[in-house]
Amino acid sequence: MSDYNELVNIDIAGKNILIREDLNVPLENGKIINDARIRAAIPTIKYALSKGAKLAIISHFGRPKEGEFNEKFSLRLVARRLSEILKMEVFFEDKPLDVKSPEYKNNITLYENTRFLNGEKSGDSKLAEKIAKNCDVFVMDAFGSSHRKHSSTFTISKYAPITCGGLLLMNEILNIEKIFKDPKKPVLAIIGGSKISTKLNILKKLITKVDAIIIGGGIANTFLLSSGYSIGKSLVEADMVIDAKKIINIAKEKNVSIPLPKDVVCESSNNSFIKNTNEITDEEMIKDIGPKTSTIYKKFIKEAGTILWNGPVGVFEDALFENGTKDIACSIKDAKALTIAGGGDTISAIEKFINIEDLDYISTGGGAFLEFLEGNELPGIKIIKKL
Ligand code: 3PG
Repeated sequence: MSDYNELVNIDIAGKNILIREDLNVPLENGKIINDARIRAAIPTIKYALSKGAKLAIISHFGRPKEGEFNEKFSLRLVARRLSEILKMEVFFEDKPLDVKSPEYKNNITLYENTRFLNGEKSGDSKLAEKIAKNCDVFVMDAFGSSHRKHSSTFTISKYAPITCGGLLLMNEILNIEKIFKDPKKPVLAIIGGSKISTKLNILKKLITKVDAIIIGGGIANTFLLSSGYSIGKSLVEADMVIDAKKIINIAKEKNVSIPLPKDVVCESSNNSFIKNTNEITDEEMIKDIGPKTSTIYKKFIKEAGTILWNGPVGVFEDALFENGTKDIACSIKDAKALTIAGGGDTISAIEKFINIEDLDYISTGGGAFLEFLEGNELPGIKIIKKL
């Protein structure tokens, strides 16, 4: 029995369904460069259409100034892409939802960016009431925005007759929970990225749940510094050294392995070279893990039963410093483990070196994925929980 109210358990035939999606896709020169979030929303949309419901779809797009229309943040292009994928007309309504509530005249209508509306970010009740007007069921499907307590992701549930989770949201919950609920052991977390401060809470949570944590990027530098290594000019958060030390101590107590890099790829005077971690000079900057470290990390990946990946282990955008992250991605592709990843940079790395399909599950969430892993109760998920 599910703890959540789910769309699939509700009779929506002939009903007006309001769906909150996260259609916040990256644009470059006026073109959508990755439509993964639009494609991820399709199962819920197709399911509701197949049941004969009329759909109003809402989403945010970027971070525009509230209360002002700005063409750069319009969802018009997304409506076109959605229409292409669905192979059917998607009506685009640019009249602000605080002026005109959805009327459910068309099979499917996408409404303009919710973040143009005054009160969206503060979770304003009057705005939520206007958006929810005329709907029979509100479907929260925007996992990527479920950490936001906005009018369209949270407050709206007070005004919709029924609130439930869509297929995408339920799939995200199910897959991410697999890491903690009876996972196949050993459980390995790979946590990279530039800042330990943004991942500290996750590290604190993971240290009690996993068997090993591989660290990389600026996060590894902070761990190295906390263990007495010189790291030259490398990216580091010196004020987080004490926290890194605490994590290493807890890891020892709990028998969780956190192997520190044995060697790294450094940059100095526009040159790149491999150095042992205990030989870094003041002028050098760590930009990637080295080959010896890669070999150790690959062994962990090969032996794992469950792998969670968030964050690259080097500056993979630069060919000189891509090998560490590439090795991680390729080993994950070949791993026998259940593999789950999330976060914008991680997805870019996966797309650069392997394929999305090479992992068992890739979350559509960035900040939401991290907060969910931390164990926080996310507002957009709270509203679909059974009382
Ligand atoms: C994301 O890109 O992570 C989501 O769409 C949420 O966007 P936000 O951080 O602007 O709320």
